[in-house]
Amino acid sequence: MDFKLTEEHIMIRDAARDFAKTELLPGVIERDEKQEFPTEQVKKMGELGFLGMMVSPEYGGGGMDTVSYVLAMEEISKIDASCSVIVSVNNSLVCWGLETYGNEAQKKKYLTKLATGESIGAFCLSEPEAGSDATSQRTTAIDKGDHYILNGTKNWITNGSSADYYLVIAQTDREKKHKGINAFIVEKGMEGFEVGPKEQKLGIRGSDTHTLNFNDVKVPKENRIGEDGFGFKFAMKTLSGGRIGIAAQALGIASGAYELARDYSKIRKAFGTEICNHQAIAFKLADMHTEITAARHLVMKAAWDKDQGNNYDMSGAMAKLFASKVAMDTAVEAVQVHGGNGYVKEYHVERLMRDAKITQIYEGTSEIQKIVISRGLLKD
Ligand code: CAA
Repeated sequence: MDFKLTEEHIMIRDAARDFAKTELLPGVIERDEKQEFPTEQVKKMGELGFLGMMVSPEYGGGGMDTVSYVLAMEEISKIDASCSVIVSVNNSLVCWGLETYGNEAQKKKYLTKLATGESIGAFCLSEPEAGSDATSQRTTAIDKGDHYILNGTKNWITNGSSADYYLVIAQTDREKKHKGINAFIVEKGMEGFEVGPKEQKLGIRGSDTHTLNFNDVKVPKENRIGEDGFGFKFAMKTLSGGRIGIAAQALGIASGAYELARDYSKIRKAFGTEICNHQAIAFKLADMHTEITAARHLVMKAAWDKDQGNNYDMSGAMAKLFASKVAMDTAVEAVQVHGGNGYVKEYHVERLMRDAKITQIYEGTSEIQKIVISRGLLKD
């Protein structure tokens, strides 16, 4: 067993770390406050290859492994989780889904632009009545021969207004239940496609989350991904990888909060000494670091499973379940270490605490991860 990162992994991690400090840190508080989409930052991330890290160079991607991707995700998330969710959705849900299950024409037309950041993607599964219960899709796509007519509403869509291409999951044959579900590539300009209201959120406020409406949208048949009825499996397989990205995001939020607390405890004085010299604080740091290290092992194991071609449904779900709890716990403790300053925006930890919560909700709540894990345990 070898826990050492390769030189290439270290280079990618350090490049992401430098980028996050120099390009994302300035303005992160203001973007959060104003709910401002990081347009310039996303453009730069595209130019540097962060939006299509795992895509094959043939389609404009970086051809990197999942370990590289989670290392970059952790570093970006330490500073700005609004940016890292954009990276995660574009890489794991959109590019990976298209590269793995799209046909050559779809890859040529859409993937290259998405992998280079020229275009941004969104993944549209959730609905007002189908969040965790993903088989209960109400959005319909009626087969009209050479095209489908799409009708319905999608909720809580990351990159909702900023995306150019949307992977939309819809029911084509209700009687067939999950076997009557398909996935489609919808372009922003298609008639009848409308971006609805932006959500006012607790955290990851720089990312734009919207309701989307589809009113008789005509989608060419060539935009269906995979064989007829493959949509639910497409969504599940894609989300399994997405969960590794979100686990890495949670890990980044946790390690960002921990580093801020550690550094602050070395300069803040109380009762005649730096607060890190009080066991009340030192023990908190010890707990945080231990839990973060355990979370990192789970995240890396899941990424490694994916790179090895092993099944990663369970390891990804375990990584997300654990890392998101560690993110929440660590961020709360980091605020506590900062005392009154922790409640103030300029110290960053209050934002990390708000951002942490979403990692226990999106791409499957913690309860969904437990369903995936327990089913995996009991299936044989
Ligand atoms: N890979 C391949 N196939 C899978 C699969 C996987 N990981 N998981 C399930 N399937 C297949 C099953 O084998 C089954 O197929 P067969 O009938 O052919 O055997 C079919 O899918 C149905 O599976 P289940 O009976 O297990 O389905 P279920 O209704 O019990 O639901 C679930 C399973 C895990 C709860 C699923 O509904 C789920 O993951 N829900 C959460 C959805 C979610 O994560 N939503 C987040 C939205 S996306 C988002 O947040 C993006 C963003 O913007 C940040």
